[in-house]
Amino acid sequence: MKVLVVGGGGREHAIVWKLSKSPKIKQIYCAPGNPGIAELAKCVSISVSEIEKLADFAKNEQIDFTFVGPEEPLSKGIVNYFKQQGLAIFGPTKEAALIEGSKAFAKELMMKYHIPTAKYAAFTNYDEALAYVRSEGAPIVIKADGLAAGKGVIVAKKLDEAEEALNSMMKEVTFGSAGARVVVEEFLEGEEMTLLAFVNGTTVKPMIPAQDHKPVYDGDKGPNTGGMGTYAPLPHIDSLMVERIVQEIVQPTVRGMALEGCPFEGILYTGLMLTKEGPKVIEYNARFGDPETQVVLPLLETDLLDILLASLSGELENLEVKWKNKSAVCVIMSSAGYPGPYKKGQVINGLDQVSYPAIVFHAGTSEQQGEILTNGGRVLGITAIGDTLKEARKLAYQSVEKISFTGAHYRTDISSRAF
Ligand code: AMP
Ligand code: GLY
Repeated sequence: MKVLVVGGGGREHAIVWKLSKSPKIKQIYCAPGNPGIAELAKCVSISVSEIEKLADFAKNEQIDFTFVGPEEPLSKGIVNYFKQQGLAIFGPTKEAALIEGSKAFAKELMMKYHIPTAKYAAFTNYDEALAYVRSEGAPIVIKADGLAAGKGVIVAKKLDEAEEALNSMMKEVTFGSAGARVVVEEFLEGEEMTLLAFVNGTTVKPMIPAQDHKPVYDGDKGPNTGGMGTYAPLPHIDSLMVERIVQEIVQPTVRGMALEGCPFEGILYTGLMLTKEGPKVIEYNARFGDPETQVVLPLLETDLLDILLASLSGELENLEVKWKNKSAVCVIMSSAGYPGPYKKGQVINGLDQVSYPAIVFHAGTSEQQGEILTNGGRVLGITAIGDTLKEARKLAYQSVEKISFTGAHYRTDISSRAF
């Protein structure tokens, strides 16, 4: 088979890495890919938002199956377009991707189908939002309604931080049109976790639970990023809790989406807070998480292509999804300054010093005359697999220390919440 993966970050490197283990695949193409992906796939220089060009490429190359990593093409309707053209693709339509693209849509869905989540209110009027925030008091959470690359959320510990966030989103329009509508949410206290699931409209097959580390500095200090590191599975989450989350949250979500006329097919990402009252939804994404994928897929025993094809053909229910009895830790190495402005083009050394069971997933890199350079905020994700979480963590950090570039930054406490 010939498979096309759309995207070019660490998540897509992990997807391509896992697909490359499938004996059924003859060739993987990746658009646009990155230098790490290029070792496993043919990279095609088409950007993720050029949907028609991607479809033309799939037709001309007789691609058998396409899989999409990032949210942007999903929200723009890549799945709708590919299906109209008779091309095989697995992922949510743009209508179903609204579960990620609009926080207000997701909130209304949860209210209607009694899915536990934080209390909220949505505003397009600044004065009304301000009055609500003042009446609720801090701590409180302010979210830009549209897509903002995981950075449109301010967890305000104090009222003046909340007021500042409203001002910058609604008056200074920091997040562009994503901030024109703002969701104000009750602050949830507890442990966070991510549960990814393969979903084919009705059937839900959960993956292993993972935990992301969003703030840029150790001890969860500093501004939120797209994610600075992950680990999986979570020692404090047993299979009963996963089952409970599927029954109380993921299944009702999938049923709700079908009843709303936009059945969800694809990877459903549920971001949860384990509160004293039980698990509650923080957010949904309509795709694999980044960097959750970099720890979840290396622990997947079953052939990923088999799962995706079974989902596409309606046979997901009968497929057993198996996991390795191991742990994985991923540490993100980022450019100095990220999530603010950062420099690109720093030479990366030591990449060839790392080997399995540690894996270097490229996120923001480029290649020039045989050298690998930094080319983004999140540059690399170093995943290590071990029999125990402790072993995985030790190997992940040993591997990180072998790699260097000017200004490299990483958190030194990934997975420490588990100990
Ligand atoms: P989101 O983009 O909605 O996942 O939010 C980013 C991060 O903000 C989450 O991973 C949480 O750490 C935090 N967050 C979001 N909503 C809440 C909430 N209601 N209570 C506490 N923390 C939250
Ligand atoms: N790691 C968070 C996300 O993928 O949205």
